[in-house]
Order: sequence, then C-alpha cells, then structure tokens
Amino acid sequence: MTNALEVEDLRKRYDDVEALDGVSLTVPEGSFFGLLGPNGAGKTTFINVLVGLVRASGGEARVFGHDVEDDYRLARDRVGLAPQEFNVDRFFPIHEVLEHKAGYHGVPHGEAAARAERALKQVGIYDKRDTRFDWLSGGMKRRFMIARALVTEPDLLILDEPSAGVDVQLRRDLWDLVTDLNDDGTTVLLTTHYIEEAERLCDRVAILDSGRVRTVATPTELMDRGTDRVVVTLRESTATARDVLDALPDDDRVADVAVEDDRLVVTATQGGLLAPDIVRELDRAGYTILDLAIERTSLEEVFVEMTRHDDADADDGGVPADDPDTETVAAGGVDR
Ligand SMILES: Nc1ncnc2c1ncn2[C@@H]1O[C@H](COP(=O)(O)OP(=O)(O)OP(=O)(O)O)[C@@H](O)[C@H]1O
Ligand SMILES: [Mg+2]
Repeated sequence: MTNALEVEDLRKRYDDVEALDGVSLTVPEGSFFGLLGPNGAGKTTFINVLVGLVRASGGEARVFGHDVEDDYRLARDRVGLAPQEFNVDRFFPIHEVLEHKAGYHGVPHGEAAARAERALKQVGIYDKRDTRFDWLSGGMKRRFMIARALVTEPDLLILDEPSAGVDVQLRRDLWDLVTDLNDDGTTVLLTTHYIEEAERLCDRVAILDSGRVRTVATPTELMDRGTDRVVVTLRESTATARDVLDALPDDDRVADVAVEDDRLVVTATQGGLLAPDIVRELDRAGYTILDLAIERTSLEEVFVEMTRHDDADADDGGVPADDPDTETVAAGGVDR
C-alpha cells in the first residue's frame, strides 16, 4: 500500500527554537489523519516543509513517494493546502485566483474555470465569485482557502486550522465535505484546536509537542488512556456501598471510588469495560441500581493531560495562534 506521507527524523531549527526536533510519521493513503498540538508545537512548520515553503534542517519527507525537495514539483502537485495564514492575491476576483491556481498546477484553461466554479460551490461561496478576497467576511475567507486547496483536486488535502473563526454551520458543512472527499479516496491531514473535531473525523491522530511526536494512535486508543467516570445511583444509602467497591478485584484501571451527591462515582480507565464488574459487586452485596451512567473521558481531556507543561516552561516556545510573524514562514510570498 502506498503512503501519502513518509517522514523520517524531520528537523527544523530557527535561531533558538527547535521547531521540528526529529519528527517521524507515516500517513497511509486514504486515511484521515489529525495533527494535534498546542500553540508553537511545530504543526505549521511541519506542513510548510511538506509543501516547500520551509526548507528542513535535516531528515526526509516524501509525498506519495516523491521527496519534497528533490522532486518538489511532483510532490507539490499532489497536495492541496488550506494554510493557517491567508496568503492570497487580494486584488483579483476570487474565481480568477482559483483559475490561476489550477493553471499553475497544470490544469488546462477551460477546465480550470469549471474546477473553480465547482470548488466555490463546494464551500458555499459561489455567489461571491466576482468579489475580491479582501471583501469577503472572515469565515468566507476561510472557505475560500479551502476552495483553493480543492481546485487542483489533490490526492492529499492539508487543512491547517480550517475551523478557526468559522461559524457552526460552516464547521458542519466542512466536516461533511472533507468526510465525503475522504470517502472518495482523498487523504486528509488536519490540524485543529477543536479537539472534538479530531475525535469525530480522524482515524488516527499524532500529538506533537515542542517539535516532537508524543504519540500516534486512534482517538479511541487515546481515550482509553484517560479516566472515565462510572456514576451509579442506588436505591439504598451509598454510605456502605463504597466499601463494596473498595473490594473490587485488585484492578489497575480503578483510580478512585467516591460518593458525590449520594451517587457512587468510580473513576477509572476504560470505564465501560469495568461497569459490569461494578454492577456485579453491588448486586452481590444486595444493592439495587436505579441508574448507571458512563461519562467517557474526551479526547480533549487526554490531549490537555498529555501536553500539559509545568509553569516553569509554560512559555517554552509557544506563540499565539494569531502571531503576525508566523506569516514570515511563507517566505515565498503568495502561494499560487
Ligand atoms: N519563520 C520563523 N522564524 C522563527 N521562528 C519560527 C518561524 N516560524 C515558526 N517559528 C517558531 O517555530 C515554532 C513552531 O511554530 P509553528 O507555527 O510551527 O507552531 P504551530 O504548532 O503551528 O502553532 P499554532 O497552533 O499556534 O499554529 C514556534 O516556536 C515558532 O515561534
Ligand atoms: Mg500553526
């Protein structure tokens, strides 16, 4: 099976920052891959290396087998990028910008117009086709960036914070759109700070922190590492029930058993798997269960836990997402 992305020991050093500190990742063709990490983790730098906007200090990256430096053209033509920062010809009607972009990647003129029309319809701003970029609203600009990524009909679609500043409706539309594209075989690489978005969409996620890959796993595998809450309401007093559960078979999964508001709360990893044991123990001791709820940990909670920095290094390499200087990354100027 082909890999959309093969990255080995990728490094990028800026003066005093190791933006990428030996990143290795493989993204199989057809997957929906999430790249998560706090501000300044190196996500945009990683993406910029893939599309030739930033030259790596070391390591290798291949897009569908093509080295991103040695075979730049072949690699770049397979990728559609919706970047985090807007880098657009601001003075042309947006449909023209899309036609230029398609033409630049070798799409014949007649077809480029049709592609532009289709992409604008896909993201729902076709009625704005004669408007220039500057005059779009913030969310429409974001939509336009996605249209521009789609106009070349890429095999690898890279979305760097596509949901930043967009309304709920677009977020939903966007999810449907990229899910459909992925179902049709497009590989998707997504960075997002809406961890819930990754939880819903991605079949695998990598957590990047300070330029290093912390882990690569499915959202479910990651959630299995976090703690769930199993909340039990009993007909009888909970006072002694707690003792029953204290006697649960010596189980590494159980972190805590407590009484909250007259309900029994068991904090544990993989709470769903533990629930039958809890029911059995309580039943055996003669309790009647009125209600049992499993409050599953979220990917967000696991993410925050994994990327939590001590106060001492809280400002270690972090940049605010809207730092205007990050635009200097696009040293080549407008990406067309
Ligand atoms: N052109 C540059 N010159 C110097 N340092 C840079 C440059 N671009 C990025 N950096 C630094 O590299 C690190 C990684 O930045 P990057 O933009 O890749 O982070 P990110 O994970 O995309 O963050 P965010 O979630 O805020 O978008 C940061 O410390 C940043 O300050
Ligand atoms: Mg970024």
